[in-house]
Amino acid sequence: MNFIDIGSIDEIPIGRPTTRVVDGRKIAVCRTKSGIHALDNTCPHRGGPLGEGDLIGEELVCPWHLWSFDVKTGNCPGSNDVGVAAHDVKIEGNRVLVRLAPPRPLPELI
Ligand code: FES
Repeated sequence: MNFIDIGSIDEIPIGRPTTRVVDGRKIAVCRTKSGIHALDNTCPHRGGPLGEGDLIGEELVCPWHLWSFDVKTGNCPGSNDVGVAAHDVKIEGNRVLVRLAPPRPLPELI
């Protein structure tokens, strides 16, 4: 999978998530102090839209039942087993490019 241009840096808001569709997959894009990050948009709990959640520091919080996800790894804090795919992001000039990671399996607890 190649990197795909999702827009300019200026189009990614600071401190709140936004969404893009990349190769038919909806992703949540987050711009934090550590940079720009991209996660799968669908919460593994019950399918909430992460791109409509809150960005608190380096965590994206699902708007439905408040599960949170590390924007760098996609993991729920304290777990390496539960989370969403975290995609590779690189900046070229003022453009943001994303390379999709494979989807992560759903946790067994739901
Ligand atoms: S759907 Fe995301 S926390 Fe429940």
